[in-house]
Amino acid sequence: MIKFDSSHALLNEKISDYQQDVSKVHKMIHEKTGKGNDFLGWVDWILNYDKNEFEKIKEVANKVSDKAEVLLVCGIGGSYLGARAGIEMIQGLYAKNKTEVIFVGNSFSSTYLSQVIEYIKDKSVVLNVISKSGTTTETALAFRILKKFMEEKYGKEECKIRIIATTDKSRGTLKALADKEGYATFVIPDDIGGRYSVITPVGLLPMAIMGIDIDEIFKGLKAAYTDLNEESLEKNAAYQYAVSRRILQNQGKDAEMLVTYEPQMTLVGEWWKQLFGESEGKEEKGILPTSATFSTDLHSLGQFIQEGKKVLFETLLLVEKPAEDLIFPYDENNDDGMNYLSGKSIDWVNKMAMQGTLDAHEITGKVGNLIITMEDTSAYTFGYMCYFFFISCAMTCYLLDINPFNQPGVEVYKKNMFKLLGKN
Ligand code: PA5
Repeated sequence: MIKFDSSHALLNEKISDYQQDVSKVHKMIHEKTGKGNDFLGWVDWILNYDKNEFEKIKEVANKVSDKAEVLLVCGIGGSYLGARAGIEMIQGLYAKNKTEVIFVGNSFSSTYLSQVIEYIKDKSVVLNVISKSGTTTETALAFRILKKFMEEKYGKEECKIRIIATTDKSRGTLKALADKEGYATFVIPDDIGGRYSVITPVGLLPMAIMGIDIDEIFKGLKAAYTDLNEESLEKNAAYQYAVSRRILQNQGKDAEMLVTYEPQMTLVGEWWKQLFGESEGKEEKGILPTSATFSTDLHSLGQFIQEGKKVLFETLLLVEKPAEDLIFPYDENNDDGMNYLSGKSIDWVNKMAMQGTLDAHEITGKVGNLIITMEDTSAYTFGYMCYFFFISCAMTCYLLDINPFNQPGVEVYKKNMFKLLGKN
């Protein structure tokens, strides 16, 4: 389902030389003995997930999707990025949907929130508030305002159907509040951290409300679980990727740019940045994850990649079959001089741009490229891709002796902010 190619990466070590280290970490992951081992619930989630809750997700999604002209998803970080990445990847950016999704609670912008409220005021709205801790300030601030908006618009009784909370099973203010107000609640498992939670109700409920087939996501997840359970580096594409990152960092490449050629994959890049950045960037170690969408960003970042400081490598996340394609038309006058493309498919043009860029960056620019190729942008592939990146992230972090599952550094800004906001 996902192919990995390191032949353009300019690696100066052999991936297979890491087999011994990889075997050790493989055991740590599967026997749950490494750092942060109480957050490894995602590893066997496809076997252990709550089947009743999965069915309840589909039921609730069915029940509210008719009502939802607009679905508001209120959350930040892992309680936001996965759902957005999934919806955009699977449905595209301008899908013909009866429901429009709007993400809120992921900043403190007063303009953004005011404009969203103005935009939705005459529309039929469903609100899914998502927070594992139940106390995240960006989410709680937006939720208080939106809850008030919903109650004024619909009354408290109707809000019991239109507001759904996804949070911890028993702890936290959001759980208490949801129980008090009678909202349906979905559980974020204790042993799955935010950035690994797209495969739980955190990601599944918004995707199901948007009409995505979550059974397909789980089929892809299951296939990945089987394929990527292999200890052997030769057989495990995710481990090859994890090791290649370590080799490239040993070669002085401290930044990685995840590059896609499909605008609908841009949010996957944002999700991936959180997954790798928050998991790996600690103890003054780790690779800086950045992302770009080509060819758009070739007209901005392309110059730096080609001729700037040699600090980075690229990871191409390619889609073999686009969801749609077009044929470039012939024009009798050819005033724009574009007839040389007549009859060619636009996806073929995109792929030629990719090939030309790969050669330019690798051969002329001496910038290594790892290549991850996905078959398509389906729900199945999304499920597969999530597991691919989860397990490669755990492997690459453990190879660096990092706990992939905490984020102690994120607390520093919060402490300062709370002091300035006068929170006790
Ligand atoms: O990966 C993580 O754990 C974080 O990014 C969280 O998802 C984010 O901080 C939001 O937390 P919460 O779901 O508790 O509101």
